[in-house]
Amino acid sequence: MNITFEEFSNIYNLETNKIEKLLSKLLNNRKPKSLYEPCEYLLSGGGKRLRPFLVLISSRATGGKFKDVYNAAIGIEVLHNFTLAHDDIMDNSDLRRGRLTLHKKYDINTAILAGDNLIAIAYESLLKDCKSNVKKIVQTFTQGIIEVCEGQSLDKEFESRNDVSISEYKKMIYKKTAALAEMSCKIGSLIVNANKKYVNAVSQYGKNLGIAFQIQDDLLDIIAEEEKFGKKIGSDLIEGKKTFLFLNAIKKAVNESDIQLLNNVIKNKGIKPNEVSIYRKLYFDLGVIDLTKKEIEKYTKLALKSLEILPNNDGKQLMIHLANSLINRNK
Ligand code: IPE
Ligand code: IPE
Ligand code: MG
Ligand code: MG
Ligand code: MG
Repeated sequence: MNITFEEFSNIYNLETNKIEKLLSKLLNNRKPKSLYEPCEYLLSGGGKRLRPFLVLISSRATGGKFKDVYNAAIGIEVLHNFTLAHDDIMDNSDLRRGRLTLHKKYDINTAILAGDNLIAIAYESLLKDCKSNVKKIVQTFTQGIIEVCEGQSLDKEFESRNDVSISEYKKMIYKKTAALAEMSCKIGSLIVNANKKYVNAVSQYGKNLGIAFQIQDDLLDIIAEEEKFGKKIGSDLIEGKKTFLFLNAIKKAVNESDIQLLNNVIKNKGIKPNEVSIYRKLYFDLGVIDLTKKEIEKYTKLALKSLEILPNNDGKQLMIHLANSLINRNK
């Protein structure tokens, strides 16, 4: 019954490979090429495939089997890829998963339409696994999309505001990122008809894990290695994003020169790429890097706590290993 970390890694690799195979077949024989070639480019870029894995392990932890939910898992990964394509346009990003972003590889119109189409493909795939609870599952999926759009809107709005609070930031990241992780877990358990208490437990896990995940994404944006992370380092500062690190740096800065540096980000709506290292040092000096790591641990612990009411089975153990492994991620 006990699953070791090594066994967890093997299962993660095996299952995400299966997800890759299913994704590579998903768009076969569809036309026109002008639409599906960019869609294929987006879906074939790799990535951690975290959300589909959440669907699988949540179903298993609440009494179901992986085979019941592969189509739903694929659907949620496809939906996630839509959000990435449009996010990269909104964030002026050139690099994703170590390759050109969709709108840089093709053009903005192509990336918008590929994203739109993938929302529908996501529903198409999800519906294949809906045997009971259909209305509830589709409502959950739909609500997830609404949350992401609301969160993305707040994220953009915050770029031009200088009074964003940590609690507003938390609400924003819940919507733009954690809602999709929560939804992945909820749908995995709803498809296998889990009881309400278990559905809530895995949903709470997904929500807290998702909050930790976005705070860590903010952290990696400044301390990761570009080759591993696959995205341009410092892009949040370049775009003037109100990240967890930036908001805490503003709170902690006392030196006139540090305050000025931080205010420049707001005043100039971002910084120049060659200034990123100055801000990285400032974040370290102000203790913001350590504080951010503690916040990630806090939400990871909350995620683990949400699982306590679940019976001990291999699905639950996979969920525990996943949360612990994400703390050390570098991409
Ligand atoms: C990127 O998500 C968008 C965020 C919510 C931070 P991931 O970090 O899961 O991206 P991939 O799918 O692994 O590339
Ligand atoms: C991710 O926020 C949110 C969504 C994709 C919905 P970010 O803008 O921080 O994601 P990355 O860093 O570009 O992956
Ligand atoms: Mg963004
Ligand atoms: Mg982005
Ligand atoms: Mg980011």
